[in-house]
Amino acid sequence: MDNKRRIELRVNGTMRQLEVEPNTTLLEVLRDEMRLTGTKRGCDQGHCGACTVLLNGAPVNACLVLAPMADGKDVETIEGLESSGGMSAIQSALVEEGAVQCGFCTPGMVLSAKALLAEKPEPSRLEILEALSGNLCRCTGYERIVAGVQKAAGLLKGRGGRHD
Ligand code: FES
Ligand code: FES
Repeated sequence: MDNKRRIELRVNGTMRQLEVEPNTTLLEVLRDEMRLTGTKRGCDQGHCGACTVLLNGAPVNACLVLAPMADGKDVETIEGLESSGGMSAIQSALVEEGAVQCGFCTPGMVLSAKALLAEKPEPSRLEILEALSGNLCRCTGYERIVAGVQKAAGLLKGRGGRHD
């Protein structure tokens, strides 16, 4: 019997309709069907945060969200942050602060940071650490990432909150 269900997602501003099995995850939809491979598959169990995307603006582990649960919602992936082919303010700030080494954790970090800065444009160090606590990084020791988010906050303030 065909259990597939039709769902509709707005992914990076574009409406997408697709048919999914009930147990298909949002991560599988993004990476395997839409080829948005900027969203990383690390543990696939909700531990590492590499698969972080924004669902209606809030960070979620895409490996833990069943695609039918995302029906009708807005999804933002790292590909959605690029503007005019360049890096967003958060991405630039992380690169400038040396916060990107192997880069595997970076897309998830960027999206968690984006959600934080949308809510708290001038976060404290503790607030940054809390917001990124679900995103594991094996390379940087986190200090450069915190510095990058602080720099991004300053950049965004100077741009009136625009992320491009
Ligand atoms: S791949 Fe989803 S939390 Fe690790
Ligand atoms: S830069 Fe390698 S895991 Fe974070």
